[in-house]
Amino acid sequence: MRGNLFWKVATALSTLLWLLTFLYQQRPTAGVVAELPSVQTLPATTNAEVTTIRPKQRTLLIGIMSVAFNWHRRNLIRSTYLQEKPADVDLLFIIGKPKWENQSSIIRHEQQLYGDLLVLGCEEHMNRGKTYEFFRNTSTTFGDPHHKTNKEGVTYRYLMKSDEDSYIVLRNFSQWVRDLPKNWTYAGIHLTYYGQHYMQGRGYLMSMDLTQYIMAHPYALKHSWGPEDMITATWVENASNLTGRNVTWASSRHIQQYGKHEYDAKWTPPVGNETLLIHGCKQPERWFKIHRDVQKIRKGVPIVQPDRNSIE
Ligand SMILES: *[C@@H]1O[C@H](CO)[C@@H](O)[C@H](O)[C@H]1NC(C)=O
Ligand SMILES: *[C@@H]1O[C@H](CO)[C@@H](O)[C@H](O)[C@H]1NC(C)=O
Ligand SMILES: *[C@@H]1O[C@H](CO)[C@@H](O)[C@H](O)[C@H]1NC(C)=O
Ligand SMILES: *[C@@H]1O[C@H](CO)[C@@H](O)[C@H](O)[C@H]1NC(C)=O
Ligand SMILES: *[C@@H]1O[C@H](CO)[C@@H](O)[C@H](O)[C@H]1NC(C)=O
Ligand SMILES: *[C@@H]1O[C@H](CO)[C@@H](O)[C@H](O)[C@H]1NC(C)=O
Ligand SMILES: *[C@@H]1O[C@H](CO)[C@@H](O)[C@H](O)[C@H]1NC(C)=O
Ligand SMILES: *[C@@H]1O[C@H](CO)[C@@H](O)[C@H](O)[C@H]1NC(C)=O
Repeated sequence: MRGNLFWKVATALSTLLWLLTFLYQQRPTAGVVAELPSVQTLPATTNAEVTTIRPKQRTLLIGIMSVAFNWHRRNLIRSTYLQEKPADVDLLFIIGKPKWENQSSIIRHEQQLYGDLLVLGCEEHMNRGKTYEFFRNTSTTFGDPHHKTNKEGVTYRYLMKSDEDSYIVLRNFSQWVRDLPKNWTYAGIHLTYYGQHYMQGRGYLMSMDLTQYIMAHPYALKHSWGPEDMITATWVENASNLTGRNVTWASSRHIQQYGKHEYDAKWTPPVGNETLLIHGCKQPERWFKIHRDVQKIRKGVPIVQPDRNSIE
C-alpha cells in the first residue's frame, strides 16, 4: 500500500519535471540571442589551411627579414597577404639572436602562437651575415628531407629573401615562381648599380641546388658581410665561374618599388594586374591601401592610383 503511494508520487513528480523541461525548451528566446549564428555557420578561418593535406615537396620558402620588436609588422603580414598562402609555399620571419630578455619573451610567446619564426644564432644586422646564415640554415635543413633538423621531411625548390615592407601578391607571385626554371636559377628584379649586376633585395630567390652549391664552397662565407643583395650576386657569379654552368637570371619588372627610388630606372604605378610584389610600404596606410587595391583589381573594380608627384 505504502509502495503504491510512493510510485504514484514519483510518477506525478517525474511528469511535472518533464512538463517543466518541455515548457522551458519552448520558451521564446530573446531576439538578440536568436540572431547569433550557430557555431556550425561561422565562417571557416585558417582551419582550411591546416586541414588541407600539404605536399612534402614544396615550391617556395620565403624568409622575411624581421627584428624581435617588430611584432606588429609581422601581424600586418599575417593578417593580409599571408591569408592567401598556397599549400606549396611557406613563410618564416627571420630574426637574429636576441640581446635582451624583453626580446626573447616576445619571441617565445609569438612562436607558441604562430610557430613561424626562425631565430638564427647571428647578430641582428642586415649586412653582417644574416642573409648568409638564413640561406645556410634553410638550405641545410630543407634541402635534405632526412636531415636531423628536418623533423617533418619537408623540402623546397626555391629559397627566397624578402623584407617586412614588401607587400607580396602571394598567389600571383607563387605562380610566377612555379613557372621558373627549376635548377640553377636566381630570380627577382635585376638591377645594375655602378656596374654590378644583382637582384634587388626587396625579394629575390635562388633554387635549392644553386644555394646548396654556394654553401658547400668557401666563397660565400668569406664574403658574407656587405650590402646583402649585391654580395648574393657575387656568390652566384662565383658558383657559375667554378662550375662553368650558366645560372638563369630570371627578372620581373613586376617586382616593383612603390614610387621612385634611386636604384629604379623608372617609375611604375603602385599596383596593377601584373604586380607580383611592391617594396617600400613602411607606412601602414600604404600597406592597407595596397591590400584593398589588390582585392579590387581582382574584382575588376577601378582603383585610384596615387598622384605620381605626391610619392617620395
Ligand atoms: C628592452 O630592454 C633593454 C635592456 O634592458 C632596454 O634598454 C630597452 O629599452 C627595452 N626595450 C623595450 C622596447 O622595452
Ligand atoms: C637553424 O636554426 C635553428 C634555430 O636557431 C636551429 O635550431 C637549427 O639547428 C639550425 N639549423 C641548421 C642546419 O643550422
Ligand atoms: C635540380 O635540383 C634538384 C634539387 O633542387 C636536384 O635534386 C636535381 O638533381 C637537380 N637537377 C639537375 C639536372 O641538376
Ligand atoms: C671563387 O671563389 C674562390 C674562393 O674565394 C676563389 O678562390 C676563386 O678564385 C673564385 N673562382 C672563380 C672562378 O671566380
Ligand atoms: C668570375 O669570373 C669572372 C671572369 O673570369 C671574373 O671577372 C669575376 O671576378 C669572377 N667572379 C667571382 C665572384 O669570383
Ligand atoms: C653558357 O652560356 C653561354 C652563352 O650563352 C654559352 O656559350 C655556353 O655554352 C653555356 N654553357 C653551358 C655550360 O651551358
Ligand atoms: C593575379 O592573377 C589573376 C589570375 O590568376 C588575375 O586575375 C589578377 O588580376 C592578378 N593580379 C592580382 C593583383 O591579383
Ligand atoms: C585587371 O583585369 C581585369 C580583368 O581582366 C580588368 O577588368 C581590370 O580593368 C584590370 N585592372 C587594372 C587595374 O588593370
